[in-house]
Amino acid sequence: MSTAGPSTQDAPRAALGLAPGDWGTGTSDPLARPGQGRRFGAAAPRLDGPAKVRGQAAFAAEFAYPDMVYAALVHSTIAKGRITGLDVADARSAPGVVLVMTHENAPRMNPMPRMLTAPKAAGGDDLPIMQDDRVHWNGQPVAVVLAQTQEQADHAASLIRVTYEQEPATTSWDQAVADGITPGLLFGHPAAQEVGDAEAALRAAPVSVDAIYRTPYQNHAAMEPHATTLKWDGDELIVHDATQAVAHTAWSLAHIFGIAEEQVVVTSPYVGGGFGGKGLWQHQALAAAAARLAGRPVRLALTREAVFRIVGGRAMTEQRVAIGADADGRFTAIVHTGTVASARASALSEPFIASTPHAYRAGSIKLGFDVARLDMVANTFMRAPGAAVGSFALESAVDELAVALGMDPIELRLRNEPETDPMDGRPFSTRHLAQAWREGADRFGWSRRNPVPGAVRDGEWLIGMGCAASSHPYVRMPGGAARITLTRDGRAEVDVAAHDMGMGTATAQTQVIADRLGLEPDRVEFRYGDSRMPGLVMAAGSQQTASIGAAVAAAHRELVAELMKLADDDASPLAGLTPDEVGALDGGLAALDDPDRHETYADILARAGRDQIVAEAAAPPPAEMMNFSMHGFGAMFCEVRVNAVTGEVRVVRFLGSMDCGRIINSRTAASQFRGGIIMGIGLALTEEVLFDERTGRIINPSFSGYHIPVHLDVPEIDLIWTDIPDPHTPMGAIGIGEIGITGTGAAIANAIFNATGKRVRELPITPDKLL
Ligand code: MOS
Repeated sequence: MSTAGPSTQDAPRAALGLAPGDWGTGTSDPLARPGQGRRFGAAAPRLDGPAKVRGQAAFAAEFAYPDMVYAALVHSTIAKGRITGLDVADARSAPGVVLVMTHENAPRMNPMPRMLTAPKAAGGDDLPIMQDDRVHWNGQPVAVVLAQTQEQADHAASLIRVTYEQEPATTSWDQAVADGITPGLLFGHPAAQEVGDAEAALRAAPVSVDAIYRTPYQNHAAMEPHATTLKWDGDELIVHDATQAVAHTAWSLAHIFGIAEEQVVVTSPYVGGGFGGKGLWQHQALAAAAARLAGRPVRLALTREAVFRIVGGRAMTEQRVAIGADADGRFTAIVHTGTVASARASALSEPFIASTPHAYRAGSIKLGFDVARLDMVANTFMRAPGAAVGSFALESAVDELAVALGMDPIELRLRNEPETDPMDGRPFSTRHLAQAWREGADRFGWSRRNPVPGAVRDGEWLIGMGCAASSHPYVRMPGGAARITLTRDGRAEVDVAAHDMGMGTATAQTQVIADRLGLEPDRVEFRYGDSRMPGLVMAAGSQQTASIGAAVAAAHRELVAELMKLADDDASPLAGLTPDEVGALDGGLAALDDPDRHETYADILARAGRDQIVAEAAAPPPAEMMNFSMHGFGAMFCEVRVNAVTGEVRVVRFLGSMDCGRIINSRTAASQFRGGIIMGIGLALTEEVLFDERTGRIINPSFSGYHIPVHLDVPEIDLIWTDIPDPHTPMGAIGIGEIGITGTGAAIANAIFNATGKRVRELPITPDKLL
């Protein structure tokens, strides 16, 4: 009995139908040529580095307009109920105040189109935006103040007095579960799936583990708080926003204000981190509404507190993982089930089973989760949704099973490597995790590990090593498109409505484009971050590299076809060749079977009397995701020191041995892996949003109370990778943005167990849990 259940890849799958695609069938790129990819792997420095260091890179809160005013928000202080009184007189008469907007004078707005309900929906929730007296969560914006300066706006906001009539709200895990749970959905499909009878196999297994793991609410904590600077130009709305989805945001804002998509322009040239949190939240709509009422451009830069109060993070989970095995360690059953506490209006219930289906060969697998509902800010996608916290539970349980079996945890994992996808039997497009384990173990010195917990001590410090598997799905969303403008001086400009949130998109894509077009990188300009550009490319799901790459390949195909029409001239060495018979080489095109038959772009355009040639095309549907089980993998290694007196944990060594297809840029890729791992250190040891369960109010909405790793918390993070191209993806690359946070929490928890003999199953692993 086998049912192919839904997975995190289902949203794009559902959107594309069954059309065959170029990579899906495994056929190679017709324009590939020997030597293509020679720029890949280079440690090209960030193109945006100099501008950022010089302060010349304008982030959303740094755009300025003459006559611009500054916004401040007032947040509700109850979780549920009605506003019964709004005393705004003092605020209206405070110095510099231009406008006080509340539900009593806000213009009509439609609710945000909630993410996943339409291809371009970007909203984190679909609640009324300051349209009535209802309060849906503690922290909801209830007033916006505009003033001549930020200080004046903040001061006036502090003068507003709001009275409420409270209603009973669900503000604790226990209450949410008691209210009743419903079966979890993954992109509209039931999340529950089963192969075989896992509970029966578990009962029959000679060796098994069965435990509950808990993870708290977490916040993205991007370095740049959310911000938007915008103005109305007649009926046109121009928005400079910190977003990972310019096209989605433009469409969604148009929907909110009932105007045409073309009437909204969203730009986002620089973003200081996103991680799933830089979507559309109520502040952009509120800023636009206030700007309309005031007739002035508006800057709304959220305070850090406001980010915690109105931008959702990662939902709490309680997970059961049970694994049954034969005496030789072969898995006979995997059960991964549990509960997620999600906000009522949230687009996502943290799918902690995300990477479990593909992790191990097992005779039977049972997956699923239930959802309990809270009255709180709408939780959302946060770096490696599901997998980040799901891998903590699964990979902790594998470690526990290794202890129960008396077996090395790497050997146990290698023994259960699957040949094909364990849920539906599809082939993996690439999977060299075993190699990553072996090379990582060598590099880390795993053989020096003492398997006896608590056996290695240096003064008051207990020392331990741990490991965990890491994985994240490959995704290429439908809708990618690109425009290439090739000019007579042999330069190429490429436009895609994509994003660079600091991960190096523009740097890596410049390498890709230079390689594809046979140009030096300084002849290529990759332009992005503007909703007027082609393509629907969200910087999410670790999918931009593949999406942009596929779109550029499609546009390049058009470009070559156009060029070959121009080159169909006896004066050209390329005359008589078809587009399939040429490839890019040295600033022009050459016959694939005879590189001496070569003509530069400049010569082709000059002879045709053309100044430039423009080609635009959409990427083929991501059929590769239908045909293959596609993931990035990694083997995470960690060494910790745990203070036996204070319970303090120091991560002193970390190695990520990654298997993510071909690495395009070794420098920016290493940064991506490191960033994910650093976030994993926070997930493991410190990060926890705390709610006052009486009121639903976040009580630590700042970095003094919500602790993310700082430099002293982060050791030198070593990275290696297999660098084996996936033959079924553009450039052979597998997304790398999110995988670093997966497995990391478990690697740390497992190292702590090895150091201390204490198994902590509840994150974060704070000192009190180790004493
Ligand atoms: Mo990420 S959660 O895909 O921005």
